[in-house]
Amino acid sequence: PSDTGRVLSIQSHTVQGYVGNKSAVFPLQLLGYDVDPINSVQFSNHTGYPTFKGQVLNGQQLCDLIEGLEANDLLFYTHVLTVCDPVMGDEGKLYVPEELVHVYREKVVPLASMLTPNQFEAEKLTGLRINSEEDGREACAILHAAGPSKVVITSITIGGILLLIGSHQKEKGLKPEQFKILIHKIPAYFTGTGDLMTALLLGWSNKYPDNLDKAAELAVSTLQALLRRTLDDYKRAGYDPTSSSLEIRLIQSQEDIRNPKVELKAERY
Ligand code: ATP
Ligand code: PLP
Ligand code: MG
Ligand code: NA
Ligand code: MG
Repeated sequence: PSDTGRVLSIQSHTVQGYVGNKSAVFPLQLLGYDVDPINSVQFSNHTGYPTFKGQVLNGQQLCDLIEGLEANDLLFYTHVLTVCDPVMGDEGKLYVPEELVHVYREKVVPLASMLTPNQFEAEKLTGLRINSEEDGREACAILHAAGPSKVVITSITIGGILLLIGSHQKEKGLKPEQFKILIHKIPAYFTGTGDLMTALLLGWSNKYPDNLDKAAELAVSTLQALLRRTLDDYKRAGYDPTSSSLEIRLIQSQEDIRNPKVELKAERY
């Protein structure tokens, strides 16, 4: 037993670099969680590079692993990290086949206690177009009705500004408590940030179950410190940070994961 939780984390593994489990497992461990990773794929590197090689775990292979755990009574997890972040797509493009959207909508979302979509995923799951804060808040309300009591739209771009919108419906049928965090957009494209963000939101919201705004402030603070370090390191190495997606400096940011300094505050609606 652990006083924080045991997390079963079903995500991608990359040999080099930090996306999926590579960006989620280490921070959760630093926050004191036991984390058991299942690697849904094992790729040489993330798919933003010119090429990648590797294997995909099929449904039977996933079932085998779960059956092995079950046969030894080892399925005593407090959290499953995968239903949280739908990882369906971004920037107007789907990573998953269009046919899977309704599977997420009908089967996966109702099982999740917390959902952390980006703008595009929130649009796909609700059918709304999100062009304003009001639209974001309405999307959260629709997603609550589908199941999850906690929803964090991790990034909405409105007029060059990044906006996070959080929403906690403390009881079914009640009006959700909503907040926003305004984030200065760093002019670069990072990979692994969504997976890291979701892991941190899980880690902190489990420690502060009634303060989703505080959990989001802590997660955003870690992200901002880590992204600044990443940008600085690339610039110092003489690299143009706008030229391709940057690998995050995860290990170098462990102090910012353990003890984030909150600079961006959540504003309650
Ligand atoms: P996913 O694509 O994995 O479903 P996502 O698209 O929401 O998730 P990101 O857009 O990468 O993931 O954002 C996650 C968090 O990372 C944001 O809430 C923000 O704090 C931070 N972030 C990502 N990119 C930037 C950026 N360019 N400038 C500032 N913060 C950023
Ligand atoms: N998993 C794999 C294998 C990827 O290649 C990527 C992005 O390239 C991701 C996950 C998602 O990364 P992010 O957290 O930035 O959405
Ligand atoms: Mg994104
Ligand atoms: Na997200
Ligand atoms: Mg992601």
